[in-house]
Amino acid sequence: MKDSNFLKENNARSLWHPMAHPADCRANPPIIVSGSNGVRISDVDGHEVVDGVGGLWNVNLGFSCQPVKEAIAAQLDRLPYYSIFRGTTTDVVIELAEELRDFFAPDGLSRSFFTSGGSDSVDTALMLARQYHKIRGEAGRVKFLSLKKGYHGTHFGGASVNGNANFRTAYEPLLAGCHHIPAPYTYRNPFDETDPERLAQLCLSALEDEIAFQGEGTIAAMIMEPILGAGGVLVPHESFMPGVREICDRHGILLIADEVITAFGRTGDWTGSRHWGVKPDLMTTAKAITNGYFPFGAVMMSDAVAEVFEGDETGRAAIGHGYTYSGHPVGAAAALACLAETKRLDVAANAAARGTQLFEGCKALQERYEIIGDVRGGHGLMTGLELVSDRATKAPIDKETIAKVHEETYRAGAMVRMSGANLLMSPPLVLSEEEADIILSALDAGFASVAG
Ligand SMILES: Cc1ncc(COP(=O)(O)O)c(C=O)c1O
Repeated sequence: MKDSNFLKENNARSLWHPMAHPADCRANPPIIVSGSNGVRISDVDGHEVVDGVGGLWNVNLGFSCQPVKEAIAAQLDRLPYYSIFRGTTTDVVIELAEELRDFFAPDGLSRSFFTSGGSDSVDTALMLARQYHKIRGEAGRVKFLSLKKGYHGTHFGGASVNGNANFRTAYEPLLAGCHHIPAPYTYRNPFDETDPERLAQLCLSALEDEIAFQGEGTIAAMIMEPILGAGGVLVPHESFMPGVREICDRHGILLIADEVITAFGRTGDWTGSRHWGVKPDLMTTAKAITNGYFPFGAVMMSDAVAEVFEGDETGRAAIGHGYTYSGHPVGAAAALACLAETKRLDVAANAAARGTQLFEGCKALQERYEIIGDVRGGHGLMTGLELVSDRATKAPIDKETIAKVHEETYRAGAMVRMSGANLLMSPPLVLSEEEADIILSALDAGFASVAG
């Protein structure tokens, strides 16, 4: 590896970073992460911090998960790649699909379609949803519904159902027939409603209204995150997702649970859908399926959806979709090892306990720091702080202040994620009580640095 002078001189010089302005990256070069240990990362200057971001919501088992590393190395030796397009398969994907079938049985999901990541999984789910209706003779069902503030990746399908202008405007026009419903976001919503249960009902009414307006026979699927993650950790009232399920059922609309960050324990339950007692028709997963060590994803399908495809005799169920790396054997081997460790360590239970600790700790910080307008979480290890310049008016914070809080928090020992006006936390699910306290005390130092 080149020395740190070389790295600093060339930082952001010859590459464009995702989700960043190229000129801003040149002006404010990103932190160069070069090492890791447990739930900690270190930079080229040797500064070590607790990773409150967990990679990018994906390194659930931390950076030192030996069984996953060994599984990857062994698979690279044995069979580094083979395709599973029609006519061939591999031993590891067969085994993985059986494991996933068991893991997701309580969600009513039994079939897998493998992908290389979250955006892939979302586009696969959207495409299969349309195909499902075509097989059943309802070819007019082509539209998609989703939530404003929802995040569904950045392929054209995912961007089209995305609920945040930052990921849409520059790339428009997007897919036709995608329509958005207000999110159950109590801090800011068009109804001025702060009660979570009443707000959930208002959003459900908006969903009913949109379906009536579009015509139910034109809608293929509704896609939603059980807890909205990247949009700022928006936790809906417990009645919301069951309400969406009931409305979708009544109108013949498929429900796609986008669980790219919530599957595998993050909410304190094994899936976000299970957290709310809902069985979706399709579920998108990725990220923690391999602990972030290999790009991989899986779309899970219910028995009912599977029966429509598998029982087809017209030929319409032939799947004309897939990726070169669908079911990559190295990813599949990583996923098998990761699933075994995820279950052995019972990380969902720890996510629930540490999530509550982090949430309560952040609420205590809110009492001391005026710029913390809203604290969201309390359902596993997903915590969001929305910063404001004035609590009474909820006026947004300026970029410099949030950057300063971020920088000082990092200096004091924790990496958190800056996302618009939010600071988001999604640490590894193996976080200890002491490490959660380190994140909280680092945040305390971060806020103290800007407190008047
Ligand atoms: C809910 C959700 N869906 C989809 C995606 C896209 O996943 P990827 O970045 O792996 O393409 C993400 C990424 O954060 C996500 O949070």
